[in-house]
This record gives sequence, structure tokens and C-alpha cells, in this order.
Amino acid sequence: MSRIAYVNGRYCPHNGAAIHIEDRGYQFADAVYEVCGIRDGKMLDEEAHLNRLDWSLGELEIPWPMTRSALQVTMREVIRRNRVRHGMIYLQVSRGRARRAHSYSAHMNPALVITATSTPRPQNAQVLPQPVSVITQPDIRWQRVDIKTVALLPNSMARHAADNVGCREAWLINAEGKVTEGSSSNAWIVDQQNRVRTHPTNGRILNGTVRQALIRLAKQEGIEVSEIAFTPQEAYEAKEAFLTSSNALVQPINQIDGHKIGNASQNEISQQLWRAYYIENQIAP
Ligand code: PDD
Repeated sequence: MSRIAYVNGRYCPHNGAAIHIEDRGYQFADAVYEVCGIRDGKMLDEEAHLNRLDWSLGELEIPWPMTRSALQVTMREVIRRNRVRHGMIYLQVSRGRARRAHSYSAHMNPALVITATSTPRPQNAQVLPQPVSVITQPDIRWQRVDIKTVALLPNSMARHAADNVGCREAWLINAEGKVTEGSSSNAWIVDQQNRVRTHPTNGRILNGTVRQALIRLAKQEGIEVSEIAFTPQEAYEAKEAFLTSSNALVQPINQIDGHKIGNASQNEISQQLWRAYYIENQIAP
């Protein structure tokens, strides 16, 4: 089945889908995006994604390309046309097309692109996937990473460094020696006091939608969450480590910079959080 993309008001074959060469997203990374997971044909954390899109657009003074409800209808149509049951939807809003100039007019027509991709479904969705390894890399990004822009070159370079050594993700270390987040995911540990730790949302991380859900669910489960940044050393000594994103959802980690995490730990707390997320979203087993 050939894939269909939505581009500025039209559904078109994915292969020929195109944006103008003077789109500011292309020339200035003047664009924001969302990636939303799809399970059993339904979008996960849809409201949180739209709220964050609203935040990103607002911070950059890019107008919504259509109303929120029209966007929701269009996203569902892209999922339907691509027959995605398990996978993700990508949407990008750029400030639009203009003759190249650094400054911009506040009255441009934003460009909207939406695609949907199927990914393989795990055999047993109730249990966490196999653990993966991560490395650490310096966080060389700009200071507004709370806005979900497409300016992802530092993230891309960090992930490439991880790929080169056979690791799944790179955890980024800031100038204070703390782990901020992964190149495309939030970073978590369970410390020796059984506290779940993740970096606070002080503008130095992207406030992940799965992150928001897990913090809420942890409270319901009686698990202590402490939004206090941790060092790589604390991560090496953690009982559990995991990452979250709309692609991976909850992904356990068993090695950081070559240090084994937990001693054959059963990832009990990560598993409990995953179970709560899985149940809340009515994901099929
Ligand atoms: N990335 N931090 C960064 C830098 C990210 O790029 C992402 C998501 C997250 C997690 O956010 P969420 O839980 O809302 O997916 C945190 C997406 C998946 C991407 O760029 O493909």
C-alpha cells in the first residue's frame, strides 16, 4: 500500500510530497513538530501533544495552521488513509514560505505537513521491551529546548555517536555535570531510595508527553517522583534506568557508558509504571 502524506491542505503520495525551497523550516529550522504514538489505531496522549504544540507555536509566535479540532480531524484522516494500527504520526508546522531574510513577518501562512508510519507490534505489549544501552554526550543544544523545534542537529549528532558504538540513545550532560535528557527521549533513574528521578522542566529539557503521564501515574501508584537532576555517576549506581518517548514509550536501560545498571534488577518500578500507562491507555496485550 502506498503511503499518503498531508501537505498544506492536500493528501498526496508520500513519494512526491514536497515543501517549497524557501520554506523557513528548511532555511532557518523555523518550525515545530510533534510525534505522537499510535496504538490499536488510537493516538496516545493526544491532548498533551496538542497542548505542547500550542506552547511551541505560541513561544515562536507562529499561528496555528488550522483550528485545533480541524487538526485532530486531519490527523485521524492521515492515520486512516495510511491504515496505521501501531506506529506514529509526525506533524510539522513551519512559519511558512518567504524570501530568505533572518527576521520574519508576524503574518505569514504556516506550512503544515503530516505523515503516519507503521512500526512492528511487539509480541507481548504488556511487558517492557528488552533493555538497551546508552552513552553520555555533552549537551551542546540551545537554551530553548522546551520548544519542540526541528533544530535537532546537536540531538542528531549525539544519537549518531551512540549508534557508532552500538547504543540505542545518548544521554546529554549539561555544564553542571547533570543528565538533562536523551537525544530524543526523557531520561530516568530509580535511585537507591527507590525514588524515581528525572530532570525538572526548567526550560532545559523537553517536557515529554510520556514523562507527564508517568509522573501523574507514579503519584497514583504511590511511587515517589523527585524532579531533581542526577549525575552520570548517580545513574551508574541506580537500581533501574529507563527512557521515555512517544516512540519507545517506556524503554528499560541496562548499561550506561559501559556500567551495568542494577544487579540483575527486575526493573520492578519501571514495569509498574509501564503497567499503569498500558492500562490507562487500554493498549491491547
Ligand atoms: N522525541 N526529549 C526530546 C529531546 C525529544 O525529542 C523527545 C521526543 C522527548 C520525549 O517526548 P515525548 O514523550 O512527548 O515523545 C524528550 C520524538 C519522539 C522525536 O523527536 O522523534
